[in-house]
Amino acid sequence: MSLPAKVKIYEVGPRDGLQNEKQNVPTNIKVELINRLSEAGLTHIEATAFVSPKWVPQMADAADVMAQIIRKPGVVYAALVPNERGMEAALAAHVQEIAVFAAASEGFSQKNINCSIEESLERFKPVIEMAQQNNIKVRGYVSCVAGCPYEGEIAPEAMADVAEALYKMGCYEVSLGDTIGVGTPENITAMLEAVIEKVPVAHLALHCHDTQGRALENIKAGLEVGVAVVDSAVGGLGGCPYAEGASGNVATESVLEMLHGLGIETGVDLDKIVETASFIKDQL
Ligand code: HMG
Ligand code: MG
Repeated sequence: MSLPAKVKIYEVGPRDGLQNEKQNVPTNIKVELINRLSEAGLTHIEATAFVSPKWVPQMADAADVMAQIIRKPGVVYAALVPNERGMEAALAAHVQEIAVFAAASEGFSQKNINCSIEESLERFKPVIEMAQQNNIKVRGYVSCVAGCPYEGEIAPEAMADVAEALYKMGCYEVSLGDTIGVGTPENITAMLEAVIEKVPVAHLALHCHDTQGRALENIKAGLEVGVAVVDSAVGGLGGCPYAEGASGNVATESVLEMLHGLGIETGVDLDKIVETASFIKDQL
């Protein structure tokens, strides 16, 4: 298959990046980060998460972040939502898009959201209904698609089933997360082939953490089977508090460099992203 002519970059740095910082990042720094990202031409920015502050204290200022950012027309500012309580808060904060997050592994599901995969899908039903009633688009994540820190290898069919369930429940896009960065082009391709049988590739995204430095190769493998949405984090920020060893997401600037080098359009200004990466690194 030929590579896509255009790729949508889904910037997750302010959420996936900063949720894992040991130090508390002040709200005004998060806001400036998000404003710089929108100025760089990104159209999809995952700004924060309406999760329990007992679980992830770094995202406790979700409502303040949403209230203080400059909303650039045409830019979608999204947030993670785990339950109805989070959805109510997201609505009050005028979030334009939410993401529910499930896993392909039972062990990770328990550690991350304190319930089984099945229970999580049940929990998302009313959340998705509330979103739909308010014309809010819903994205779905499946974590651990290339391996789990608690269970090791996961069968491609297991990921395909969870991805399909999210898609059928109303997620317009399902982002497949290599949470601990153990993917290789071979297992990412096998996983995608299994998922594509159940969810059209136009509705899939790849979300690679770069623990073993293979994220770019894995994204290239995704492009080769038709994936045209890539999640990344400016400066390679990130990790997951419930997946020890999960290093940062693949850096937005590295993804842009690779895509632009392949002649793929993104609409994002690489120089501004590089400046933003050094801005946030100076703050941390
Ligand atoms: P729980 O402890 O089972 O639920 O947590 P609970 O209902 O008993 O709530 C515990 C406390 O949190 C209660 O407070 C609730 O009120 C409060 P208390 O009564 O003890 O004072 N609470 C909330 N507060 C604010 N907003 C809410 C909310 N919900 C409950 N929405 C729960 C279950 C799902 C809430 C919890 O496990 C949680 O918040 N987990 C989120 C974990 C997380 O954010 N992980 C990182 C994001 S996922 C990720 O990084 C992977 C991804 O990047 C893809 C990839 O890389 O693979 C997406
Ligand atoms: Mg992640």
